[in-house]
Amino acid sequence: MSGSNRVTRRDFIKVTTGAVGGLITLVMGIPALGYLIDPALRENKAGKPVMVGNLADIPVGTPYHFSFTLTKVNGWERTASTFGGFILRKTEDPKDIIILSSRCTHLSCRVNWNEDAGAFLCPCHDAKFSPEGQVLDGPPPEPLRRFAYEVGADGAITITPVELKEG
Ligand code: FES
Repeated sequence: MSGSNRVTRRDFIKVTTGAVGGLITLVMGIPALGYLIDPALRENKAGKPVMVGNLADIPVGTPYHFSFTLTKVNGWERTASTFGGFILRKTEDPKDIIILSSRCTHLSCRVNWNEDAGAFLCPCHDAKFSPEGQVLDGPPPEPLRRFAYEVGADGAITITPVELKEG
């Protein structure tokens, strides 16, 4: 056997050390890689239905206020947005409800229900909306937006958090 084909102890240690190092890097690197790319793959939760109330808790004829916060994930960027609105039960019929956004259609201030006025009032430029969201006074160019909703068998009301123009 010639001396050039012999594996020296030094060569053996080099190869073994490299292999063990590579294995450790691989074992530790996979979770780290997953951690790095996970936010980019994570689903945007902003479009998921949100429960906003239950029919049993909402009186007929008086707007019921709700609000919720959604976090939108876009890669590493997280943006929290607060949505608000009012559920109006027009009659005892569980299907006879409308769900309005509380965002004024003028410059997006939040409207409030005023029992004495029987209307939604916008504090920014004194707009006034009817209980069903129609513009009664002020500068808004259109009615309050609405949310699409579903009522479950147990009375739970869920909305899709996307404001719709009145159709
Ligand atoms: S923002 Fe509501 S009236 Fe201007």
